Amino acid sequence: MCGIVAYTGSREAYPILINGLKRLEYRGYDSAGVALMQNNNISLYKCRGKVADLEAFCEDKNVESHCGIAHTRWATHGEPNDQNAHPHLSIDGKLALIHNGIIENYLSLKKELMNKGYEFLSNTDTEVLVHLVQDIQKTENVDLIEAVQLAMSVVIGTYAVVILSSDHPQQLIVAKKGSPLLIGIGKNEFFIGSDGAPMVEFTNKVVYLEDEEVAVVHPDKKLEITNIKNERKKPFVERLELQLEQIEKGGFEHFMLKEIFEQPKAISDSMRGRINTKKDVVALGGIMEYENKMLKAGRYIIAACGTSWHAGLVGEHLFESLVRVPVEVEYASEFRYRNPIIKEDDVLIVISQSGETADTLAAIELAKSKGATVIGICNVVGSSIARNTHAGSYTHAGPEIGVASTKAFTAQVTVLFLMALSLARKKGEVSLSMYHHYISELEAIPAKIETILAKNDYIKQIAQEFINCQNAIYMGRGVNFPVALEGALKLKEISYIHAEGYPAAEMKHGPIALIDKEMPVVVIATEQETYDKVVSNVQEVKTRSGKIISIVSEGDEIVKSMSDFCIEIPKTDELLSPLVASVPLQLLAYYIAVARGCDVDKPRNLAKSVSVE
Ligand code: AGP
Ligand code: GLU
Repeated sequence: MCGIVAYTGSREAYPILINGLKRLEYRGYDSAGVALMQNNNISLYKCRGKVADLEAFCEDKNVESHCGIAHTRWATHGEPNDQNAHPHLSIDGKLALIHNGIIENYLSLKKELMNKGYEFLSNTDTEVLVHLVQDIQKTENVDLIEAVQLAMSVVIGTYAVVILSSDHPQQLIVAKKGSPLLIGIGKNEFFIGSDGAPMVEFTNKVVYLEDEEVAVVHPDKKLEITNIKNERKKPFVERLELQLEQIEKGGFEHFMLKEIFEQPKAISDSMRGRINTKKDVVALGGIMEYENKMLKAGRYIIAACGTSWHAGLVGEHLFESLVRVPVEVEYASEFRYRNPIIKEDDVLIVISQSGETADTLAAIELAKSKGATVIGICNVVGSSIARNTHAGSYTHAGPEIGVASTKAFTAQVTVLFLMALSLARKKGEVSLSMYHHYISELEAIPAKIETILAKNDYIKQIAQEFINCQNAIYMGRGVNFPVALEGALKLKEISYIHAEGYPAAEMKHGPIALIDKEMPVVVIATEQETYDKVVSNVQEVKTRSGKIISIVSEGDEIVKSMSDFCIEIPKTDELLSPLVASVPLQLLAYYIAVARGCDVDKPRNLAKSVSVE
């Protein structure tokens, strides 16, 4: 995720660029930069921090220009700092480039370019692009447009790219694959953006670039679009319908709903570049150096808070089922004060969306002080937790703005699954055929979530039945018990309805006393080894007039017949069911909270990052 803005025309570019970045800041905000064409030279201003920090940095600079590019970063490769901020320059300073996405083959490209003498000033994946374009221009003796087409042909990954060239002062070249990019068409002027926000007051004529397309814009010329094979494409001009206040949420009413709907992409991005093309190797680059420690671990301890702790409980099932090593899951806040027994062959895995949770940070220090290896799973590159662990793997869920965590949870479970599968394969605990089974099941998850999201209106209808309930119980078994906990947390933290999650079998040990016709009971009853036991638990609730909302696998008629409301979801391997079963629960909580008039993105008393104890 990141924010891309560019402009060429007769207006002053800088105000358009900086205001455009502010409108895109929700997409990524760890560093920002701008490159301006001034007297046929490129001036570059960039720094770590928010767009406001860039604006302050430019306060005393000459920012007069009629053509420029600007970027607010969501780091995936390379710490958020001044050098890693975009734009990146070619060695001769004649090219400036900004990028949204992930270049999966950047290491091999970087190695080739360094062998040719190219010096890298950053440790981002992006910087390879600007040197690659220049190198192709020189070695193939082609013009800039063709060099961009050829460069994008060898790149593997996702990109939305804008390039500024001092040899073509008023021209911008854009290229797109997998990351959004649109071109706003004005009168002798063009606007480029990751979405419509930067241009909405200037034009409503836009062209949404398609994958593997390259466009050239110049104020004195018509928009030209080709694909990377240099085949000309007729621009399809559309009307930009969205109003400014909506655009920052991409047309969604709340960030939380947008992030629920981003889960197919968040999961795909968290897998991207980590499963080889033959599908027989999972490679998590960030933990390679400590892989032996992980393979020799006598025990894994997973420590986290809140939703991340729920992901840890799923991780316990994944690691014990696949890696066959004992796992212990701890609330970080309890673990840090309990004076736990920690051995040197223990591996602590910490999970955190923000990477700044104080209790989780303290758990890291405690484990390190006892000689254990600490591995992190974070969503924010360069965050404190990411910097304090020995190694780790990032979830590539993109910025999560809504306080209630959704896409980060499913991205965390995805990375936990990849980690467990990779270790299990290397320990010989999983056959190649089972390995292929799990990989294809995981790769099918994004599409399965899309089918659940298509039931959005049906789930919204169900939610209307429960907006006045005072309590709710969620229950599940096995790998879906953490899903029950997560569903209950979602409901209570955004609708303020008291909700508890229980192992389904635990109901008869007390909680079933709560069941009456007023008590909604949400049950995750998807296909799993203990399905028949879950059916009995549903029966126990039904005979006491509990109102049943069930999440079942497609085609289930048994639990469906016992339910007041039933949401069918696609079948998947039992170990992966949290990735699909959690989605309807997120939507249910969201629509109940909206119907109750709650502030869904900023619930009372809560903060997105709990950096205090
Ligand atoms: C989940 O919806 C909450 N926002 C909260 O429980 C959160 O998961 C918890 O504070 C941990 O945050 P972290 O993942 O950033 O460490
Ligand atoms: N992968 C690039 C980087 O880490 C771009 C990230 C983004 O999309 O902001 O710099």
